[in-house]
Amino acid sequence: MALRITVIGTGYLGATHAAAMAELGFEVLGLDVVPEKVETLSAGRVPFYEPGLEELLRRHVAGVAGSTGRLRFTTSWEEVGAFGDVHFVCVNTPQKQGEYACDMSYVDSALDSLAPHLARPALVVGKSTVPVGSADRLARRLAELAPAGDAAELAWNPEFLREGFAVEDTLRPDRIVVGVRSARAEELLREVYAKPVAEGSPFVVADFPTAELVKTAANSFLATKISFINAMAEVCEAAGGDVVKLAEAIGYDDRIGRKFLRAGIGFGGGCLPKDIRAFMARAGELGADQALTFLREVDSINMRRRSHMVELARETVGGTFLGQRVAVLGATFKPDSDDVRDSPALNVAGQIHLQGGQVTVYDPKGMENARRVFPTLGYADSVPEAVRGADVVLHLTEWREFGELDPEALGQAVAHKRILDGRNTLDPVLWRKAGWSFRALGRPTA
Ligand code: UDX
Repeated sequence: MALRITVIGTGYLGATHAAAMAELGFEVLGLDVVPEKVETLSAGRVPFYEPGLEELLRRHVAGVAGSTGRLRFTTSWEEVGAFGDVHFVCVNTPQKQGEYACDMSYVDSALDSLAPHLARPALVVGKSTVPVGSADRLARRLAELAPAGDAAELAWNPEFLREGFAVEDTLRPDRIVVGVRSARAEELLREVYAKPVAEGSPFVVADFPTAELVKTAANSFLATKISFINAMAEVCEAAGGDVVKLAEAIGYDDRIGRKFLRAGIGFGGGCLPKDIRAFMARAGELGADQALTFLREVDSINMRRRSHMVELARETVGGTFLGQRVAVLGATFKPDSDDVRDSPALNVAGQIHLQGGQVTVYDPKGMENARRVFPTLGYADSVPEAVRGADVVLHLTEWREFGELDPEALGQAVAHKRILDGRNTLDPVLWRKAGWSFRALGRPTA
């Protein structure tokens, strides 16, 4: 009989994973402790913006006309325990309040709620990003709590999906990494991922600590790459060089590669910033903090980008934000997402607001979340409305819509034709030709 799969936690990761598992042909039961989320998903709606996910969900969720009916959602641990052969734990691991360490409370409570309902053979698979050593601790907890005893086993299978590409990354992952302690666990996971593996995704089998570390190491590397190019942007600015050209030229060396070399206001989101901090905190606990001191520098370069952007904007409007109208294009931490967690764009907008600027923000998908997180900023429903009467325009999230703006038309609406490109995706020649004063991070002023 085909495997039955449960997915615990239906945020970005869990909702996508559940729909993807149904797409692979499995019977899937998703669980969330928030009844509203279960209701929304059961009605075939996704409670956040992720391209292609709602279509995928509707293709499978029971009750939606024409669906396969393979996917259902519940709030019942009992039902989940009785249903699943493989249980994926996909809950959030945020940064602890007031600390760098990772908050494991959602993972711990998921395991504590699930384990007592595991009366028959089952594999519990952690997908959340956790401090190394967690899987070993959770395996011991599972053995204590599960009525099935040894027949209930743990494995670790980190998730590498990017927001905006979550469906693609889940169905066709760059690699599948599994941390296992038995041949049976490996076999079950090979069965789950048979299709993507047949289509070419490498399947890497590792021990627990290595599997956990792969995720934090990958995110640390990505963060380091971004901060490296942002450090080069600082030097370029000092020396009169162009970081965009520099990134292109070094990226042709395929040992370096062209991806993740976009200089700008730096990285944000729910993963990279908190993951590098949690990694440093964990290394400290293990007595290996020296190995990761460079990540402190990566973090520091990244945070400097935001204040640098604020300084450039202040300089552009004559040294003070008082009485100045600042239009901010972009609120999300990256395009094709409605996520504003640790968003550099919103951070810059907030700093300017706190320094007395009159800030108006527009974002194609992030308005609702931005308003909730930062209710004191001004918001507009369109680009023309946001830039009306602006003394300076800041381009802070590289939505496609912003890349297609017509500098001539926009010039009619603003008080002063000044734009700062915080993402290095606008064409300086085009904007300058239309009479704008155009500045970008790490690029020559004219
Ligand atoms: C990241 C990892 O890419 C993913 O593998 C992991 O599972 C979760 O964390 P995500 O947070 O969705 O994914 O976003 P990502 O595309 O990595 O971008 C992170 C941040 O870096 C964004 O704020 C983005 O704007 C910024 N970035 C990215 C740059 O500033 N420059 C770049 O060249 C690339």
